[in-house]
Amino acid sequence: MGLASRREVKLLVRRGEIRVEGIVCHDPGEKYEEGLCATFCGRPVILKSRFYYMMNKPAGYLSSTEERGEKTVMDLLTPQLKAQSLFPAGRLDRDSHGLLILTNDGDFAHRILSPKYHVDKLYYVRYEGVLNVDAQEMFEKGLRIDGGEICRPAKLELCGQGEALITISEGKYHQVKRMLNAVGGSVYFLKRMAIGSVRLDPDLKEGDIRELTTSELSLLNKTGSE
Ligand code: URA
Repeated sequence: MGLASRREVKLLVRRGEIRVEGIVCHDPGEKYEEGLCATFCGRPVILKSRFYYMMNKPAGYLSSTEERGEKTVMDLLTPQLKAQSLFPAGRLDRDSHGLLILTNDGDFAHRILSPKYHVDKLYYVRYEGVLNVDAQEMFEKGLRIDGGEICRPAKLELCGQGEALITISEGKYHQVKRMLNAVGGSVYFLKRMAIGSVRLDPDLKEGDIRELTTSELSLLNKTGSE
């Protein structure tokens, strides 16, 4: 659970520092079910093996677990979180900001990412240029980007001089930037505001991470079902 290394936990078990449901655990090899309540050096913890977090991704970090000599969102995690084998469920470009979900649950990640499940993603963008007068209609009909791929119907809401909200339900490479390009705009700021019905927590500072609440998790599990 990322609370300590296996070696440290074995030592703590031998010292009687770990209880499960109030009973001291003596055997480091003992298996327990998820959902039981343990105390770890006096601190209560619910035993679980799957983890779900939201991060407010700052610009300058790759949404990847591989380093390739560049900073990744994994560099923003504490050693405890690093021990939970998390990975980002979906990508934001290096220069993009906002809501990124990290988990160690591959099925869950697949459900929120696969175009099959149509989970909406909401982006706030600032752009330069003058948009085609039919831009909103073009988004609704399904835009062709870079003269090739056709996007699913999407929503473009203009909300001020050079600002817009864009909702898409798939995740093609640089999709939002390419869609805006296709209607005459050039994105210079992009922030993901929501995935399905889960919105980026306005109190979460850039670079910070917190666990998804039970209701956020159930909203995502609901949206991610066929
Ligand atoms: N679309 C983009 O173009 N970039 C992102 O980071 C996310 C969606």
